[in-house]
Amino acid sequence: MAFDIEMIKAVYAKYPERIAAARKTVGKPLTLAEKILYAHLWDGDATQAFERGKSYVDFAPDRVAMQDATAQMALLQFMQAGKEKVAVPSTAHCDHLILAQKGAEEDLRSSLTASGEVFNFLESVSNKYGIGFWKPGAGIIHQVVLENYAFPGGMMIGTDSHTVNAGGLGMVAIGVGGADAVDVMAGMAWELKFPKLIGVKLTGKMNGWTSAKDVILKVAGILTVKGGTGCIVEYFGEGAKSLSATGKGTICNMGAEIGATTSTFGYDESMERYLRSTDRSDVADLANEVKEHLTGDDDVYANPEQYFDQVIEIDLSTLEPHINGPFTPDRATPVSQIRAEAEKNGWPTKVEWGLIGSCTNSSYEDLSRASSIAQQAVDKQLKTKADFGINPGSEQVRFTADRDGLLQIFEELDATIFTNACGPCIGQWARTGADKQEKNTIVHSFNRNFSKRADGNPNTHAFVTSPEMVAAIAISGDLGFNPLTDTLTNANGEEVKLDPPKGDELPEKGFAVEDNGYQSPAEDGSGIEVKVNPESKRLQLLTPFDPWDGKNITGAKLLIKAFGKCTTDHISMAGPWLRFRGHLDNISDNCLIGAVNAFNEETNSVKSQLTGEYGLVPATQRAYKAEGIPTIVVGDHNYGEGSSREHAAMEPRHLGVKAVLVKSFARIHETNLKKQGMLALTFDNEADYDKVQEDDTINFLDLDQFAPDKPLQLEFIHADGSKDVVVANHSYNDAQIKWFKAGSALNLIKEQQKN
Ligand code: F3S
Repeated sequence: MAFDIEMIKAVYAKYPERIAAARKTVGKPLTLAEKILYAHLWDGDATQAFERGKSYVDFAPDRVAMQDATAQMALLQFMQAGKEKVAVPSTAHCDHLILAQKGAEEDLRSSLTASGEVFNFLESVSNKYGIGFWKPGAGIIHQVVLENYAFPGGMMIGTDSHTVNAGGLGMVAIGVGGADAVDVMAGMAWELKFPKLIGVKLTGKMNGWTSAKDVILKVAGILTVKGGTGCIVEYFGEGAKSLSATGKGTICNMGAEIGATTSTFGYDESMERYLRSTDRSDVADLANEVKEHLTGDDDVYANPEQYFDQVIEIDLSTLEPHINGPFTPDRATPVSQIRAEAEKNGWPTKVEWGLIGSCTNSSYEDLSRASSIAQQAVDKQLKTKADFGINPGSEQVRFTADRDGLLQIFEELDATIFTNACGPCIGQWARTGADKQEKNTIVHSFNRNFSKRADGNPNTHAFVTSPEMVAAIAISGDLGFNPLTDTLTNANGEEVKLDPPKGDELPEKGFAVEDNGYQSPAEDGSGIEVKVNPESKRLQLLTPFDPWDGKNITGAKLLIKAFGKCTTDHISMAGPWLRFRGHLDNISDNCLIGAVNAFNEETNSVKSQLTGEYGLVPATQRAYKAEGIPTIVVGDHNYGEGSSREHAAMEPRHLGVKAVLVKSFARIHETNLKKQGMLALTFDNEADYDKVQEDDTINFLDLDQFAPDKPLQLEFIHADGSKDVVVANHSYNDAQIKWFKAGSALNLIKEQQKN
């Protein structure tokens, strides 16, 4: 069913030879991260040496996973590739578009109405192209992936930043933009800058109230939200082996909060137990056959300083529970200091809500440990002071927890059991009173706690901690409560203390589920028609972009000269626009509305050369397009930094912008522009940026000779008749020039497919 044992066999078959070659190439013992990377080289040639943090390398991931919000545009694009089926096993998961309000049953019903057309589209497109489909209510993408697809030593990409969760089962799993997922599903290579490596040595063994979550809360405090950028974090040591697989998943999951490319752990007995208990003994048996390749070499872990770019050591025996926040996940406070910190900073200590769930902490073990605290509240006649909400990670976890009586314990404390979905973690939480924007405190077991994320209220102080700490703090209703030392007064006026949590790593009676929410795709999808209502506001089938006509672009106008920072958020804003992710024309109404116009220093206000008036950027561009007038965008340094959002490249392309000329690009955005058939150019002389005037007309002088390593010349004719010729560099190779000529990379794939 869900996993592909033949694919895993094929991956493991490559390991011995490639690892041996890589060890020779690198000239020393290998970390696990290096083994997985070398085993997944696109061309299979492990005799090449790569420089960490420098070399761009092509990889061949084993799997792709997509969540409902990002899958829409990814799959709309994939449909353009002209393929009959995805080239690697892929899945789509409906989890982000489900509201948490009244409780699972009602919320799921209303979400099916509100987002039904998106779910139906994802279902039919998955069915057609051989993609596994996980229905709304089946669970959160990363919990479902861990339970069904993740395997030690594998490599996967996913269109969600917490794809990294699968490191809990020893994968290199990386969050990407939709365009990357499309490439891999269409059978192309996937490019990544060879990461640097951070080693985290875990010694000792956890006890009492400390949990796996505290490891990553501590690491986040050390490395901060940027400290892992461009790095794979590899955990090892006796302490690592003592953690459960889902606990390891929690740690890897929040690697996204330190900016890490991904995090991973070597294969061990906890992973084997998890594989067997989730009905994958065959995967465990295969992994055991190659287990020496599925962890770092002995000498690496004995002398980590020689092999990692940075090493951190954490003693689990002395690690305290942590509470991170508010507003940022790296503000780490040990529980013993939280009251003093709260008083010092004026954080409200009255806790309004305790939320357990999200892809970070919604496993059976999480629910089991938190329920042991809830059970004590019942037994010791304590009432919860805060409201309680639970989102189980998957239907399998929910069903099993229900069978074992765990959910009933929470319900005795009046907890609301929400759908197996993201819910409050992604702002899909209809929290009563949030619109009043009152200052308040909530605690949750999620990963992110940025302002407004859970309930839209900028004054909600959200704190991240483990599920068992969420339970204890919610019962006490007091952010400063330290369950290790403090007592609570029960209904009889007695002082009672909560004992440390107890829980089962895995369900004693095994997992159970009636309907896990999975739908296999059709064997032959050729007859399936993917239907999108032409009247839809949220979905729109894509039409291929026009190929280049082979001529120089002439008579182009300047749409905007962006000043200063222009990130993908400035180019394609998020927030309310996200509901149009699957509708290119509608979402294009946010095109560049956040960019600052260098001539008036305003956003979303540019001069139209058609009318001489200032107007909104998208409307101005639409008017140029209607007249058949090409345009260009000029920008500053690091244009397009931020995310890999492909909309930031597709929108200008859709609206008729031909070229983006900047001082420098963020690399991913530059590649995205190329893939969409745009010209991504950089000033040879940065000072030429100042020569660009608002009323310029631009002619390309030698685009008809477009070739690798050959700069282009652009003539800027100013309003007074004077002109400047600007030299523009580019980084297109032969293959990328073909994308430009075809109109987009997908057009080219389609052409090649036909031939
Ligand atoms: Fe969903 Fe939150 Fe994870 S949005 S995928 S539960 S980070």
